[in-house]
Amino acid sequence: MSSVSVPPPKCLQKPLVVPHRYMFGPGPSNVPPRILKAGANPVIGHMHPEIFEIMSDIRSGIQYMFQTQNSMTFAVSGTGHAAMECAIFNTVEGGESVLSAVNGIWGERAAEMAERIGATVNTIVAPPGGFLTNADIEKALSKHRPVVFFLAHGESSTGVLHPLDGIAELCHKYNCLFLVDSVASMGGTPLHMDQQGIDILYTGSQKVLNAPPGTAPISFSERACQKIFSRRAKPVSFFLDLGWLANYWGCDGKPSRLYHHTGPVTAFYSLRESLAVLAEEGLENSWERHHKVAEYFHQGLESIGLKLFVKEKVKSKTAYSYHHCCSAWI
Ligand SMILES: Cc1ncc(COP(=O)(O)O)c(C=O)c1O
Repeated sequence: MSSVSVPPPKCLQKPLVVPHRYMFGPGPSNVPPRILKAGANPVIGHMHPEIFEIMSDIRSGIQYMFQTQNSMTFAVSGTGHAAMECAIFNTVEGGESVLSAVNGIWGERAAEMAERIGATVNTIVAPPGGFLTNADIEKALSKHRPVVFFLAHGESSTGVLHPLDGIAELCHKYNCLFLVDSVASMGGTPLHMDQQGIDILYTGSQKVLNAPPGTAPISFSERACQKIFSRRAKPVSFFLDLGWLANYWGCDGKPSRLYHHTGPVTAFYSLRESLAVLAEEGLENSWERHHKVAEYFHQGLESIGLKLFVKEKVKSKTAYSYHHCCSAWI
């Protein structure tokens, strides 16, 4: 008699079948063969010197993509949501005030994440398909005095690309960190983390980067690190604790690295390759390609009689709406 009471599932006796699908949303996007192939390399240990070298290449690639010199730059093992939680859980302590700009679902989710760790959360809500003015933002900052202000740059639920200029200066005037979600915009439109004064910036691997989902580039400014490393209490999540992640990614300058978690090495290979592709194309060329595609897409929609949901469509290469579908890879 068999010692197992649950038999092997019949469905697993059939071969794996995955269809080819064209994906026209902001992401996940189709992964080019070069990046798929990189991910098919042999698995090595998450503490082997060779993986540390690959992780170091990834950090350099993210610094280029984000246009930042921050040494606290790495990739979270997880999707964009993990990066959101990494940003919020490390920077915010229970009882502190957080302000979230709601111009679609991402501001709502950031607000909920901060609420779950006991922060006092306020929101400012943009009109559907529109965005907030710097005057709206300053009014809310001066009223709520948050420690962190969250804003989604490319709001994938509405298609709005939120202008960023001048917001960091306002945040810093009120002693607040500026946290930007660029999951759906990074690499597809100009963004300069250091120049624009962004304190915490993250993205995802599966959108403009055309890598599989599962890794999320993130970077913290010196100002953000100062707040994080002078917290009263440890962050609520061990997995997303910046102190541990900084050591695992070699961002803390310490000579030895400790085991924190088993990094998804094959996802790191794909991420590294996608950053190599971006570096070869050049950020400016990538921005231009996405800009042209967005224009083409908008014209196509309007030519069949549809009206754009965004209040103002692309005016320049930096504002106000975007769409990453029909990337050159498909
Ligand atoms: C703007 C934005 N932020 C965050 C996320 C969450 O990313 P993920 O689905 O990789 O967790 C998404 C996903 O579509 C997004 O578009």
